Amino acid sequence: MIYIVNDLDMITKLEVGDLNLNIEEFDIVDLIQNVFDLFEMKAAKKDISLTFDKAEMEPHYVKADQEKIQQVLTNLTVNSIKYGRDKGTTEVSIVDLSENKYLVRLTDNGIGINNEDFPRLFERFYRVSKSRSRDEGGSGLGLSIVKHIIEAHNEKIYVESELGVGSEFSFTIEKSETINS
Ligand SMILES: Nc1ncnc2c1ncn2[C@@H]1O[C@H](COP(=O)(O)OP(=O)(O)O)[C@@H](O)[C@H]1O
Ligand SMILES: [Mg+2]
Repeated sequence: MIYIVNDLDMITKLEVGDLNLNIEEFDIVDLIQNVFDLFEMKAAKKDISLTFDKAEMEPHYVKADQEKIQQVLTNLTVNSIKYGRDKGTTEVSIVDLSENKYLVRLTDNGIGINNEDFPRLFERFYRVSKSRSRDEGGSGLGLSIVKHIIEAHNEKIYVESELGVGSEFSFTIEKSETINS
């Protein structure tokens, strides 16, 4: 069963080097929808909608550790809500990157991140200056966990952002070979 691991539990596991991947084949669209369902209430408080770029999303089967990818999607979704603007949108799209990879992209139209912060963004405990509007507190661990998990899969994570416009986090993931999507 899938469960949500809080930041500190997960970081404890990472620190003892216990990041055994349990590789499975699953539909990432379904997993994203589950994460959206879990955070719908939190998003609604800021009138933020969590959506896919298309109304009808076909299943996209991938090969990865489902529980850990859920953690990645959770951390990115929670950030997009926390640092999103009222009445904003968090939108997910899945790009057919190559024969064996998808790119999962999470875009928000929130407060954005200064490019100067990019080099440190994925560091443990790093948080962008508290002087920014609407700081809701946090551990600064979310993105370091995301990076650890993606790197444990030998995949890549990217960030693009413009201050005051929004942010886009994306990561690569292996396609399932056996299940056609
Ligand atoms: N979607 C986003 N929009 C704007 N800023 C973000 C976004 N995601 C992360 N950040 C910035 O990156 C910092 C690090 O994120 P994270 O590691 O999740 O820590 P936390 O959310 O606990 O502060 C955050 O403090 C925030 O300033
Ligand atoms: Mg966070």
